[in-house]
Order: sequence, then structure tokens, then C-alpha cells
Amino acid sequence: MATERWTNEEGKALTLRPLVPADFDIAREALRRLSPRSRYLRFFIRAWKPNDERLRKTVDPDPKLAHALIVTAEDAGREIAVGAGQFFVVAPGDRAEFALLLADEWQGSGIGTRMLRALVDEARRRGLRELFGEILAGNAAMLALARKVGFSVTPHPGDRGIRVASLALAPGSDPGSES
Ligand SMILES: CC(C)(COP(=O)(O)OP(=O)(O)OC[C@H]1O[C@@H](n2cnc3c(N)ncnc32)[C@H](O)[C@@H]1OP(=O)(O)O)[C@@H](O)C(=O)NCCC(=O)NCCS
Repeated sequence: MATERWTNEEGKALTLRPLVPADFDIAREALRRLSPRSRYLRFFIRAWKPNDERLRKTVDPDPKLAHALIVTAEDAGREIAVGAGQFFVVAPGDRAEFALLLADEWQGSGIGTRMLRALVDEARRRGLRELFGEILAGNAAMLALARKVGFSVTPHPGDRGIRVASLALAPGSDPGSES
């Protein structure tokens, strides 16, 4: 995947790039600072706590089974993790499930949109047929973001509290091109 660099409205330099094992410490720090609300919206568990073992696997994904990206910013001369996105291939060559997470203070400024579009591009590049995500029914921001990028949203067949956002990745189709 291509690295993206841009400057936000406050003049902060941001970078979107693949997540690598060396990101463990900055990712861990960001997860520890995450609000209970964001933890729940991402992991669906109210008492979710960061787990080093799982994080080690997340920052070192098996390229055949997963893809992960990170967005970083410069803060007082050092790099900090602002957000991360990933997908897991649930049916090789066919379907992958995505998830996104942004640090609380960085939500609502378009970073999630960039991350989801980058995941769509990578899933399409890999020839996958569908990218989907499970989203809590009350997660207005994630539902709006998914629709904006071209996903259709339907009820989860087995859980009324969850919606399923799905995007067909026909080669050459580009539903995420609207702004
Ligand atoms: C959900 C999340 C990834 C969205 O990323 P973001 O960078 O905050 O979203 P964006 O700024 O790109 O917003 C995209 C669209 O969502 C909508 N949106 C954003 N915040 C919203 C809010 N609080 N309520 C309703 N809609 C909202 C807007 O339509 C926006 O598009 P616009 O700015 O062009 O109008 C981020 O808020 C987050 O990490 N939340 C906590 C964890 C989570 O919910 N993860 C998703 C699990 S799959």
C-alpha cells in the first residue's frame, strides 16, 4: 500500500502507512489512553482492556490473512499513533472483515475516511470480492462513514444490536470516489 502524508486543519503533519512491529510501543500507549466509549465501539466489550499478546500479533499481521495500517502524527518532536485500521481475510480470495479505531481527540476530522478508503484499495488490489464490517447499531459515526465510502448497511442476521456494512469489490469499480 502507498504511504499518504497530509496536513490537517490545525497544521499537524499526519502519515498513513502500513502497521509494523516497531509500532508496538506507540500503539500500546494510544490504546491505554482510549476512552471506555471508544473501546466499546471498537471491541464491543464494555470492560475491554489492552492485551500485549494480542497487540503483538496485530502489529505483525500475517500478510496472507490480514492487512493493517496506522496513522501517526508528530507530537512534541516524536511520533504518536493516532489511529489504526485492519482487515482480516475470513474466506481467502473472497471476503475480509475490517475494523477502524481512532484516538478520541483525533475523531471527526476525516482520518477514518482515509483509513477506510485505504483498506478498500488494498482489499481490491488483493482481488477480494467483498469487504465488510460489523458495527454497533448506535455507532452513528461509523455507520455514516461506511455509507459515505459506498458500503451498504443491513441488519445483522443474528444480533439486533449490530449492523453489517458491506462493499462489493468488483474489479475496476470505485464507489469510494465521492468526497
Ligand atoms: C468511527 C471512526 C473510525 C470514524 O472515524 P472519524 O475520523 O472520526 O470519521 P470521519 O471524520 O472520517 O467522518 C466520516 C463521516 O462520518 C460522519 N460522522 C463523523 N462523526 C460523526 C458523529 N459523531 N455522528 C454522526 N456522524 C458522524 C460524517 O458523515 C462524516 O463525514 P463528513 O465529515 O464528510 O460529513 C472513529 O470515530 C472511531 O475510531 N470511533 C471509535 C471506534 C469505532 O467506532 N470503531 C469502528 C468499529 S468498526
